[in-house]
Amino acid sequence: MLAALPAPYNAGDLENGRRAFARCRSCHTITPGGPNMAGPNLYGVFGRQAGALDKYSYSHALRSAGFTWDADKLDHWLENPKTFLPGNKMTFAGLRDATDRRDVIAFLKVETGYAPETAKAAATATAPAS
Ligand code: HEC
Repeated sequence: MLAALPAPYNAGDLENGRRAFARCRSCHTITPGGPNMAGPNLYGVFGRQAGALDKYSYSHALRSAGFTWDADKLDHWLENPKTFLPGNKMTFAGLRDATDRRDVIAFLKVETGYAPETAKAAATATAPAS
């Protein structure tokens, strides 16, 4: 599964990603149909419109952000949630270490049902993949 991810995530360290995700677990579940906690459930987040879960009460900023989550967006969000999207309510300082971000994204891709082929097909059908 890891090997099927696009670079650089195919070189990710899943154990380090799991460790880095320990910082997200107090607010996020990642299982299918898992509950929303302080933050929304993240299962299926790749390819999902930002702020799109009906049962979670997002900030206006995230609800109206108008983009779809991909690795690049998540990388910037996690680097500094506050400056990436002013007005959002994720009170998390950010993961400053680029390797930790790469690894937590690889971990999330593996754990949240991301399917490389489906995602690629969907991306080329709508917009050029970045
Ligand atoms: C203190 C609680 C908290 C922590 C820790 C936290 N988050 Fe969040 N997260 C939130 C909240 C609250 C939101 C909703 C923000 C909004 O509506 O503006 C959110 C939103 C998100 C979203 C957007 C989801 C969507 O449906 O659009 C992603 C992706 C995300 N967080 C990933 C992470 C990751 C990965 C980590 C760890 C590196 C993390 N978060 C750490 C509280 C947290």
